[in-house]
Formats: sequence, structure tokens, C-alpha cells
Amino acid sequence: MIDHENLERSLERMDLSAAPPETEPDRQYYFIKKARALVAEQTARLGRTPTCCVVTFGCQMNARDSEKLSGILREAGFQSMESEEADLVVYNTCTVRDNANQRVYGRLGFVHSMKKKNPEKHVALCGCMMQEPSVIEKIQKSYRFVDLIFGTHNIFKFPELLCNMYESDRMIVDIWGQADRIVEDLPVERKYPFKSGINIMFGCDNFCSYCIVPYVRGRERSRRPEEILEEIGRLAGEGVKEVMLLGQNVNSYGKNLERPLTFAQLLQEVEKIPGIERIRFMTSHPKDLSDELIETMRDSQKICRHLHLPLQSGSTRILQAMNRRYTKEGYLALVEKIYSKIPDISLTTDIIVGFPGETKRDVEDTIDVIRRARFDNAFTFLYSRRTGTPAAAMEITASKEEIQENFDLVLKTVQDTAREQVARLTGQRQYALTEEVNNQTLRMVTGRLSNNMIVHYPGDASLVGKIVEVELTENRGFYFVGRRV
Ligand code: SAH
Ligand code: SF4
Ligand code: F3S
Repeated sequence: MIDHENLERSLERMDLSAAPPETEPDRQYYFIKKARALVAEQTARLGRTPTCCVVTFGCQMNARDSEKLSGILREAGFQSMESEEADLVVYNTCTVRDNANQRVYGRLGFVHSMKKKNPEKHVALCGCMMQEPSVIEKIQKSYRFVDLIFGTHNIFKFPELLCNMYESDRMIVDIWGQADRIVEDLPVERKYPFKSGINIMFGCDNFCSYCIVPYVRGRERSRRPEEILEEIGRLAGEGVKEVMLLGQNVNSYGKNLERPLTFAQLLQEVEKIPGIERIRFMTSHPKDLSDELIETMRDSQKICRHLHLPLQSGSTRILQAMNRRYTKEGYLALVEKIYSKIPDISLTTDIIVGFPGETKRDVEDTIDVIRRARFDNAFTFLYSRRTGTPAAAMEITASKEEIQENFDLVLKTVQDTAREQVARLTGQRQYALTEEVNNQTLRMVTGRLSNNMIVHYPGDASLVGKIVEVELTENRGFYFVGRRV
């Protein structure tokens, strides 16, 4: 990450009449400067500033990547807007389940009709879906109007690709098979002034048999702790109070660093940064969750009382076929250990229903774990076959109807237990970070508790970004209504 002033200083050094530098990030600074010139030209021609819109699909990792794209577009001089009417639309895609892909194709159909009416309009595609060769083929064949396609490993090259796009009338496709490095020091535009995600690692080495992420995000790479701590320190200086450390499996952070460091040790360092009041992280793989991490959470004043611990299935047989490397009993024992050391923690999870070979008996195991683990919330997904993953070759034996029935049953169990769980907090006093005004006329705001639950309470815009104490007076199922105390 680089701030605006330092970027300006770096841009001043760039000479557009010379060839672009070979080293990064200087090369991209050169192209940011060049993009500014292109945007200035466009502004003069149109008599207005060109607009841009970044549309994000998928997880927090993609959301963070979109902030990087937006930061670059802002520095290039675009006016950002929420609507896909914009002159430049960037879709940052996800391919974790097929419905994520279908949504992107739907948006492309829609944006094509707009492009026919606006000759200035450009459309760019990036993100996980673009790392799949079959997707690229399909776009090249059926969506010829797309101007630029790039992937997850060369997102830092966006300024250069943007310039290439504006100077060419052909579709530009630049996809890398893997990341050769982590490029630091590019601009970022944050969605919220008071909270921010921070990548601590990229990629994933776990190869759960159903999952496409290791193929589209590449091998696991940890950022150096100095870079992470420096970034968080800078964010704190800008008024950020809450950070979310991001990785597909944060519990294996640091293993491949020159000087290895555990995730718990990294958290202890983040804890020391003045101004940071809350620390969150996503996601934890149960197989790598250490006692050191549980103790660090227990002893911390800042780490939030929330742990997202994806279960996927409660059946040891299915877990094995999923290559998750823990058992039903192992998961339950871990949960009990966490509750015994951190009684006020809130556990949430992800569950997949309909994995190849899953029977009623497996689903009963999943339901048993849901009841016993007492989740405050669970995201339940229908299994989606991803080409190229080991599970894609496994046979699905259950019928569509059976799978839907199982899904409904799991969902109902999740909702019933979550409702019971959440009710335990009614009447408690807790601290909430106010995130947004939710109703001007009723003067209500929305805040988030340490355990990630939502609470609405009276207040106005002056509270946004502040941590306030609230009494949770009324439980509305999955959220609370409260009053300030
Ligand atoms: N790294 C994270 C998960 C990232 S994907 C972890 O392991 O915890 C987010 C969730 O999507 C997963 O937890 C899983 O529940 C779900 N998911 C992944 N691949 C899927 C597939 N092929 N079908 C259905 N759900 C899937
Ligand atoms: Fe996918 Fe498993 Fe990696 Fe999570 S840990 S991203 S589910 S392979
Ligand atoms: Fe989707 Fe890529 Fe995240 S596939 S879930 S956006 S890592």
C-alpha cells in the first residue's frame, strides 16, 4: 500500500517520454501517470470526467483486491460510481460455485446492451473465474465485446493493462499461471474509513477435493510480517480501528517465510499497534488451529470474540473424501477446547450439502455436529461440481430431490440452533463499532459486536466509526435491537 502523497512523489520521477521501467512497482507508477494522461484526454474530448464502476463477486479476498483496483482507478483520474452505466466497468469475479459464474455471465449480457449505446464504454474482467481456461474460451467466443481480461496473479499490473486496453481495439487477455512475487506499494481505496481488510497471505495449499481456490489462486504465499505491520500501522494513522487479517487458511501463516513466524505471533505483534482496537481474521482451517492461537485469543484485549471455523461436513467418511484432514470427533473436541478457554466466543461455520457419495447417515452426522457445536451462524451451500478438482470425478449417487431435502433439513437445524444460541445474549451490555446510518428518519444506526453480530440502536452519522456501549434489549432472530448505555 502507498498513500497519495508518496505516490505523487513517485509519479513525479516518471518520464513518459522514456521507456517504462523494468522493475516493480515503478513500472506501474509509470503507467498510472500514463493513464492520467489518457483520462485527461478523454475528459477534454467528452467535456466531463470519465466514470468507472468496480463490481465484486466472491469473498473478502476479492473485496480487498477490488479496493486495489479502485485505488488505481482513482489515481488515474476516474470518477467512481455505483452503477454499471459507468464508462469503464470492471467485474472482479468468483468461481467457487457455479452460481457465482452464472451471475457474471448474466451481468455481461446486461452490460453488453449498455455498451452498444455508449461508444466510450469499456468492460474489463478479472478475478478467480479468469484463471480457468474454459472461461476464457467462452468469453472469446461469445462475449467479443469485452476489452480486457486479466487474472488473480497479475492484478498489480492493472495500470499497465489499462493503458494497453485504451490503446488497442482488440480484446486484451493476460493471464498468468502462477504468481512469481508479491508486489507491494500500490494505491488502495478503502470502502470504510474505520475498518479495513489486510492480506496476510495469498493462495492455498490444502486442496480440499471439492475446491477450485488452490487452482485459481495458486500456491500459499505469506506476506512478510514487516510489510503487514507497517501497513496496519499506516491504516491506524489514517483512523482505522478494526482490521481483518485475510487468508484462505490464516492458521498456516508464516510457514514458508525466511524467518518463520506463527499466526499467533503475528497477532501478538498486531495487538501492539496503537489505535487498532479490534482485530479479526478469516479463515481458519480446523486442522491447523493451534493451542497457541486459542491462548493468544483468550489473552488478547483486541482480538474479537469470533471464530469462523468451516466444518464442511460432520461425517468423518465425507471429510476424508473431501481431504479435510480432521474427523467428526476431532472437530468436536476442538470446539470444546475453544469454548472451555474462551467461553464468550461466537463460532460460525460453512457447510456443504450434496458432496458425492453423501448419504442420509452422513447428513445426520452433520446435523449432530451443528447441534453440539452450538454455532451462532452457518453458511450452508449446495455442492457445486468444479471442473479440474478431484471431486469432479466422483459420482453423485443421491437424486436432486434427496439433496434438496437434506439441504433444507441442514438449513432448518442451523436456523433453529442459531436462534437459540443468539438469544443467550439478550439483556447483555456489549461494545459495538458503529458502521452505518440505517434509517435517517428513525435516527437508527447499525453496529457490529465483537462477536460479529449486528445490532441496531438510536444514533446519527456522528457515531459512525465510533465504538459505543449498548444494551441488547431485543433479539430479532439473527440480530439485535439495543439502546446506548
Ligand atoms: N478457505 C476457506 C474457504 C473458502 S471458500 C476455508 O477453507 O475455510 C468458502 C466456502 O465455500 C467453503 O468453506 C465451502 O463451504 C464453500 N465451497 C467451496 N467449494 C465449494 C463447492 N465446490 N461447492 C459448494 N461449496 C463450496
Ligand atoms: Fe478451498 Fe480448502 Fe483451501 Fe479453503 S482450505 S480455500 S476450502 S482448498
Ligand atoms: Fe471466490 Fe476466488 Fe474468493 S473463487 S471465494 S473470489 S478466492
